[in-house]
Amino acid sequence: MLITNIKILANVRESQHKLRGAELGELPVLENAFLKIEDGKISDYGPMDATPDRKGDLDASGRIVLPTWCDSHTHLVFASSRENEFIDKIKGLSYAEIAAKGGGILNSARKLRETSEDELFEKAQNRLEKLIQLGTGAIEIKSGYGLSLEGELKMLRVIKRLKNSSPVPIKATFLGAHTLPEEYKNQREAYIRLLIHEMLPILAKDGLADYIDVFCEQGFFTPEETLEICEAGKSFGLKAKIHANQLSISGGVQAGMSVGALSVDHLESIGEEEIEILGKENAPMATLLPSAAFFLRMAYPPARQLIQNRAAIALASDYNPGSSPSGNMNLLLSLACIQMKMLPEEAINAATLNGAYAMELENEVGSISRGKRANFILTRPVPSLAYLPYSFGENWIEKVFIDGK
Ligand code: NIG
Ligand code: FE
Repeated sequence: MLITNIKILANVRESQHKLRGAELGELPVLENAFLKIEDGKISDYGPMDATPDRKGDLDASGRIVLPTWCDSHTHLVFASSRENEFIDKIKGLSYAEIAAKGGGILNSARKLRETSEDELFEKAQNRLEKLIQLGTGAIEIKSGYGLSLEGELKMLRVIKRLKNSSPVPIKATFLGAHTLPEEYKNQREAYIRLLIHEMLPILAKDGLADYIDVFCEQGFFTPEETLEICEAGKSFGLKAKIHANQLSISGGVQAGMSVGALSVDHLESIGEEEIEILGKENAPMATLLPSAAFFLRMAYPPARQLIQNRAAIALASDYNPGSSPSGNMNLLLSLACIQMKMLPEEAINAATLNGAYAMELENEVGSISRGKRANFILTRPVPSLAYLPYSFGENWIEKVFIDGK
């Protein structure tokens, strides 16, 4: 297939690396371009005058083509929505207060237990289909509402079925350490032992997880516990992606750095020390989840300071029923620009190429590059790239292509 007369072909790269600091603002584009797809892959692209007289299969005049979103942090598998807590929040309760009275993650865990594996799968598949239509072309999905051997395996099997049935690449993360289950309320040690000595070996043997995650937060898991759990994961080949510094200065960033995490995610509550760490060359990806800050009415992560200090930033949706009941990456792009003062180029890079790095999918997706999957968004006619985050809430997507289809 040949697409011709593309107004702007965005994020075009022949060589690439994780984007840190100022590099995040450099979005390579081609104006008036063509894009050629063969066997589901990008086979060629270039300026239109390099294809004299060739008739395309699709005329993209006035339209932008950009890589699909790489959403590197979601909790897409869950039993049901939690809008009752949404009301509690409107009335003034905090996320931590709702969690303390048995809402939050434990509420989702109870509902998950009552839901069959098939039903969970169907619901998740449905959500995923909708996300693909919104431009998501690669996604990470966590467990963490099971909180028992059986429950966590159930979630991870659902993610595996999604991997097998979905056209987009999916990575699975084991988040058994999301919170202490009700039955282990006064037995932290015992739950952590269960997680490390029973859950991990079984799910690793069955190849059910690619990564391990811990909710490193006051009232959830300490930095020491986070390290212990992540080191155990590492011994089974699972790199860490950590929920760090969402509600407080939790030590999660330091834990992530010392365990060689692939990413540390959230970062609403970080100070100079964490920012300095994240600017180091070997620091994990700083994954920002602005829709969670938006939904919980919390301060946004300091994206500008992070960029200034050479951090590598990815943007992800955190899609989950408690703190971000939307996986819409287009809206996220607007939030990143409006609320965190990221430039459109920075936000697009963070939501595509750096997101791919945060899932180790950088050789498959995340940019318009020869040999990568032909996963891209074709916009409706729009005036410019900056118009995309600017026109928040507008659906400017005309078509989403996955493997060229
Ligand atoms: O990333 N912070 C921990 N986990 C989720 C929320 C999960 C829930 O409330 O169900 C998050 O925000
Ligand atoms: Fe999360």
